[in-house]
Amino acid sequence: MTERLPSPVVVDDLSKHFGRTPALTGTTFTVAHGAVHGFLGPNGAGKSTCIRILLGLLRQDAGTARVLGSDPRADAVALHERLAYVPGDVALWPNLTGGETIDVLLRGRRADRDRIGYLCERFELDRTKQCRTYSKGNRQKVAIVAALAADVELLLLDEPTSGLDPLMEATFQDEIRQVNERGTTVLLSSHILGQVETLCDRVSIIRHGRIVEDGTLAELRHLTRTAVRAETREPIDGVLDLRGVHGVRIEGHVVGFDVDTEHLDAAIGSLHGHGIVSLTCQPPTLEQLFMRHYEQRQPESVES
Ligand SMILES: Nc1ncnc2c1ncn2[C@@H]1O[C@H](COP(=O)(O)OP(=O)(O)OP(=O)(O)O)[C@@H](O)[C@H]1O
Ligand SMILES: [Mg+2]
Repeated sequence: MTERLPSPVVVDDLSKHFGRTPALTGTTFTVAHGAVHGFLGPNGAGKSTCIRILLGLLRQDAGTARVLGSDPRADAVALHERLAYVPGDVALWPNLTGGETIDVLLRGRRADRDRIGYLCERFELDRTKQCRTYSKGNRQKVAIVAALAADVELLLLDEPTSGLDPLMEATFQDEIRQVNERGTTVLLSSHILGQVETLCDRVSIIRHGRIVEDGTLAELRHLTRTAVRAETREPIDGVLDLRGVHGVRIEGHVVGFDVDTEHLDAAIGSLHGHGIVSLTCQPPTLEQLFMRHYEQRQPESVES
């Protein structure tokens, strides 16, 4: 049943220029109902621009954006009761306390006092202080608490934890998982790859305003190489010639190489005849996976 529900976020061929600077150049992706969807890319790739269009704060030059089935600008008032937003850099009213600010941010929404209290405790936020006294991390906590306390269908999060310490980061991940289990869809832009790896079902990678990779983490991993290290009874020679095997290093009875994941089976099979004594296979880390897109040069082809 879930699969038939319309996508909460549909971005179709969006383009946006700031003067002569292209920010989005044909960005297309969708966020599935009930997903935690990672939105990744280097600085200046267009993530915040795209999210601000989804919030109705910016108008695109061309293309369409649909949020919860509506136009983000035409239906802004109704939409903002159904979604919540956390930016990376939170600006708050300096003279209001954290508690007052949460109330302002939650106006017009269904929010439970106990839930606000629970979240303030979880994030160790002292609500009685004026916002002017808050550090960056504490300002971010105010926005996170308000967003998580709002009973919404969609969370749009743009580097929501860039100011949080590792303990609070873990709390954030825990709480996001819980709201997602209760049915909230999440779009999460982040440079914290561990956060994305823990939370996200799917990721879209944007570069120069265009989506360059889109899929589940397993699918993206499949496009890359696995690092293999084996010790064998007999010395190894033949692995060198196999398709998809790269960077072979042999030291006595120990061999190390990288193999395109689709050729893993054949590569491990070739080790068999030599009598495997020990074997480790390491899938690419998210960091290795994404570095290809973060780096300026063209990504190296993994085709053999
Ligand atoms: N208000 C603006 N005026 C002019 N240029 C802008 C404006 N906002 C964004 N840009 C430009 O648009 C491009 C995309 O910026 P954007 O903020 O969307 O990137 P981002 O992916 O969110 O980057 P980061 O990871 O650093 O947050 C950049 O070249 C940026 O300089
Ligand atoms: Mg940004």
